[in-house]
Amino acid sequence: MKVIQITDIHLVPDGKLLFGEDPVTRFRHCIAHVNEHHPDADLCVITGDLTHDGDEASYRILADCLKELKLPVRLLLGNHDERPVFRSVFPHMPADDHGFIQGVHDAGDTRLVFLDTKEPGTHEGRLCADRLAWLDRMLSEAGERSVYLFSHHPPFELDLPSMDWIRLREEADLRTLVKQHGNVRYMFSGHVHRPSGGTWYGTPFATVPGTNHQHALDFALTGPATTSMEPPAYAVLSLRDAGVVVHYHAFMDRSQQFPYYG
Ligand SMILES: [Fe+2]
Repeated sequence: MKVIQITDIHLVPDGKLLFGEDPVTRFRHCIAHVNEHHPDADLCVITGDLTHDGDEASYRILADCLKELKLPVRLLLGNHDERPVFRSVFPHMPADDHGFIQGVHDAGDTRLVFLDTKEPGTHEGRLCADRLAWLDRMLSEAGERSVYLFSHHPPFELDLPSMDWIRLREEADLRTLVKQHGNVRYMFSGHVHRPSGGTWYGTPFATVPGTNHQHALDFALTGPATTSMEPPAYAVLSLRDAGVVVHYHAFMDRSQQFPYYG
């Protein structure tokens, strides 16, 4: 299975800039690049911070942009999103019985699980008792199948103090479920606007750059948290029986390429 993960697109209303760049134009470039280079992908997942301010105008721009995408798409919420506004513009996006934007995508022996870690009034990630109970059921249903979790907030600290303070608060509860069911093969997140990867109690994870701005790599946080304009990218996820391959495709890169020989 091939999945395109795009994250933290932070769309704003027409004519506005964000950190000196136009996130809508960049997202349109991203979609065109995906269409050109990855028409064979099975699914595109956008892991939250769909808009910068959670406003209706930006969600409507998102809906318009997505008309160009030639892949089926799943949308997740991030800390910058607003669930009621999102649902008013995307009423058909799957939600659980409590209205959280959570769902699954099943294909053969593979189950993708999409989590909603948005909590109103905070930038922290949260998985309340209702959301954890839903995840428990989805992992139980999956049984022996391979499960891949998608969430906006990564599951634990990434040594980035300016981001770690707004990480997922229910790390221990999530770990309990992952350990109990034993079928989660990989976790894919956004939120930190950086490429990173590693393992979390043995479960591998990856995060993906944003499409507009990145988060400066600051391990000490000696001053205020800052953005950076490092190259944007999306992830190309190859989910196979033998394992997982993650590539980052820098869709704005125009650097010159040379043949190795000749
Ligand atoms: Fe973000």
